[in-house]
Amino acid sequence: ENVSQLHRTSYHFQPKQNWINDPNAPMYYNGIYHLFYQYNPKGAVWGNIVWAHSVSTDLINWKALEPAIVPSKPFDQYGCWSGSATILPGNKPVILYTGITEGPPKNVQVQNYAIPANLSDPYLREWIKPDNNPLVVANNGENGTAFRDPTTAWLSKSGYWKMLVGSRDNDTGIAYLYKSKDFVNWTKAKDPIHSKPETGMWECPDFFPVSLKGVNGLDASVTGEGVKHVLKVSLDVTRYEYYTVGTYVTEEDRYVPDNTSVDGWAGLRLDYGNFYASKSFFDPAKNRRVIWSWANESDTAAHDVAKGWAGIQLIPRTILLDPNGKQLMQWPVQELETLRGAKVVLTDKQMLVMGHRIEVNGITAAQADVEVTFSFGSLEKAEPFDPEWLEYDAQKICSLKGSTVQGGVGPFGLLTLASQELEEYTPVFFRVFKAQNTHKVLMCSDATRSSLTEGLYRPSFAGFVDVDIAADKQISLRSLIDNSVVESFGARGRTCISSRVYPTLAVYENAHLYVFNNGSETITVENLAAWSMKKPLHMN
Ligand code: FRU
Repeated sequence: ENVSQLHRTSYHFQPKQNWINDPNAPMYYNGIYHLFYQYNPKGAVWGNIVWAHSVSTDLINWKALEPAIVPSKPFDQYGCWSGSATILPGNKPVILYTGITEGPPKNVQVQNYAIPANLSDPYLREWIKPDNNPLVVANNGENGTAFRDPTTAWLSKSGYWKMLVGSRDNDTGIAYLYKSKDFVNWTKAKDPIHSKPETGMWECPDFFPVSLKGVNGLDASVTGEGVKHVLKVSLDVTRYEYYTVGTYVTEEDRYVPDNTSVDGWAGLRLDYGNFYASKSFFDPAKNRRVIWSWANESDTAAHDVAKGWAGIQLIPRTILLDPNGKQLMQWPVQELETLRGAKVVLTDKQMLVMGHRIEVNGITAAQADVEVTFSFGSLEKAEPFDPEWLEYDAQKICSLKGSTVQGGVGPFGLLTLASQELEEYTPVFFRVFKAQNTHKVLMCSDATRSSLTEGLYRPSFAGFVDVDIAADKQISLRSLIDNSVVESFGARGRTCISSRVYPTLAVYENAHLYVFNNGSETITVENLAAWSMKKPLHMN
């Protein structure tokens, strides 16, 4: 088939060809991880959506199976849209998903369920859609054309299963709450679990508990002492997500965000870059919560049709509550490290004076995993934070103060996917500002100079990093570089940014990797380790 290999990722999840979007119903069952995802079997643009299905024992090496859920019944004949898995007592997986009952332009949406045809098939290849579907339809007065993406259900102390459906009422984003004793008969709770004016449609809500102590993830049904809850929503107006950390008031079935969490479009993001329709699941084998996300292309639909493919899934990440209780921290699942090959280290504390850069030689820079810690002597030279910028988002500041604009403390970081003469590069960097009584640390992943090709979307993605930089005097960065994606984790995963980029010169062996500093404060590379990344055995 006609599939262009240039820019395809080598260790990020992609099918052989065609369009993909949301990860669906990630789950662990009897030793196997399952990933379903929105897939167009007929082309490289969105449409004809089915649930493609892949299985793995380690979240890294995947085996593709036949699509698991495809349009076939009146309750899903125009499409099988996103949904989630729940493992019922007795170790019985069930999928909730959105079926489209009336095609464009209305795309009327209902919630269905599907169950494995044969629980003793280790791969759960075949799924049945029972005839008592749909389970949930929009009530009168609700918007049945904006009513989708059921969550994993949780079991409450009262014996009811509960789940959320994303929706909107005019421009108020809503997560409706439904409950059921038997998982078949569902009734709508009097009030949504949460809603927020001026956020628009809430796609792909995700609602889960996180532990205030320790490093274990929690099953969806855990509540009580030492537990906070997280509500994440995907905003279809802006095509980005935000989340809050808060309290699930179980007696009232309400979720109340903490006052330290901004609830709205300016809220915290799991990733400040190309990251959408994410979904987490609890992995009982390793007692962790793992989150998947789709990263779409930043080129044009015409490019995608020409390439024969569009969309990747980012590396699954372990998700934890920051010990400060105010935000999440994410880190690539440990299994990714099995792909690490040739390694280079810089341990001799190299100094980066202003304008200096050092090449990291000896690895495949187009396909690498890099971990680095930068330190500095003092913050005296930090640039003042312009009070006007309080109105700006981080991305706007990054587009004003890119990696080539000299600063005080920073910009310093990595130049990824760089061509020999720096005609192309994607810098991932920090810049420290002095604000009133505090410092602000900006992290950027800037695609502005990533490619010589015209017509690409080249955002200066950025977020602030919530650390005590004056006390720490250092900051870490990890980047997963994979041909057309740079996925970065600042300060141990407190701020994450993913960029999709399409270099023309900095490809394969012609890609280079550097550490750099363009600030007047000298930066020390405390330690750096970089690995060439191997291709998983099976990806398709
Ligand atoms: C999010 C989304 C979901 C929907 C699916 C359709 O990207 O729009 O709301 O279920 O994609 O493919």
